Amino acid sequence: MTEFRYEVLAKSGNGRRGRLHTAHGVVETPVFMPVGTAGTVKGMLPESVKATGASIILGNTYHLMLRPGAERVAALGGLHKFMNWSGPILTDSGGYQVMSLTDLRKMSEEGVTFRSHIDGKQWKLTPERSTEIQHLLDATITMAFDECTPYPATEELAKTSMELSMRWAKRSRDAFQARTGYGQFGIVQGSVYPDLRYRSIDALTELDFEGYAVGGLAVGEGQEMMFKVLDFTMPRMPQEKPRYLMGVGKPSDIVGAVQRGIDMFDCVLPTRSGRTAQAFTRRGTINVRNARHAEDTRPLDVDCACPTCTQYQRGYLHHLFKAEEMLGAILLTWHNIHYYQELTADLRRAIEEDRLDAFAADFHRQQAEGDI
Ligand code: GUN
Ligand code: ZN
Repeated sequence: MTEFRYEVLAKSGNGRRGRLHTAHGVVETPVFMPVGTAGTVKGMLPESVKATGASIILGNTYHLMLRPGAERVAALGGLHKFMNWSGPILTDSGGYQVMSLTDLRKMSEEGVTFRSHIDGKQWKLTPERSTEIQHLLDATITMAFDECTPYPATEELAKTSMELSMRWAKRSRDAFQARTGYGQFGIVQGSVYPDLRYRSIDALTELDFEGYAVGGLAVGEGQEMMFKVLDFTMPRMPQEKPRYLMGVGKPSDIVGAVQRGIDMFDCVLPTRSGRTAQAFTRRGTINVRNARHAEDTRPLDVDCACPTCTQYQRGYLHHLFKAEEMLGAILLTWHNIHYYQELTADLRRAIEEDRLDAFAADFHRQQAEGDI
């Protein structure tokens, strides 16, 4: 059985080209993880997800505990078998989803009680139960249970919240069952305050996680502030462990965060946008519902080798969305995930060849040129 292990293979500025070895396979970093919230990457067969170049996907404790239930997924052979994805799976711990999807929730030292967004039933999540659920799902990478501090937060509120997350991180670590090839990541909180972020890093490194995530970002602070937080946070993060920026982001967020030393990303943007007719391309975003595409014979992105771009015209994609045909969402989701995978593959190559800043400059120039 493969040990859970991370190696930095090359650096370019602060950017890292790494390799993560897990029980379910190897992950080349920087990596983008498509989101498979409810046991499916929406609109994609697992083999299609794989064909885009994706090596690892994300699942959600919150959604799967409510439906179909963690014990049921375990009875059906675990999440890999359940959803027919044999590669690595990282699961988020649930606290973030409770905060963003439920009302009528109550926080305490013990954990959080909330009403399901599906049927209103009462549920409780604690660091111990979240960790247990992630074991039942058989997640390759388990996340510590945390509170994503809302933005903006006063320094006092951010401190109280971060300290609670650090006590929960200790309880999550104690509940974690170490198995060969599996790992657990701690989540750095502390909002936009350097001292709080540093104290959070110190508390987590004490617990010796297999990886470290930066949480509490992409919550409304804007790209400039997010990069500012990464600028002071990243140099203090363990250098020899994988670093994951949770819930990020737009293509330009990913490029900037890689330049600052982030190795892993997840975001609903490529999948969710695919369902609302928005496509990411080398020349910025396109909405295929726009009337200007109705008689356009070109592909979404001339430089894209995905099935959507090699086999379909914009005019057809436009028609599918106008006619509310589900193939439209499927084809755009496929393209968007492919685009994100190409972007991270390009970033990996640029770091290997020590030309990350030049790559980023080219990326921004092309994005600014715009469509047509
Ligand atoms: N997803 C995006 N941000 C966060 C965060 O701060 N914590 C967790 N657990 N998940 C997230
Ligand atoms: Zn494409």
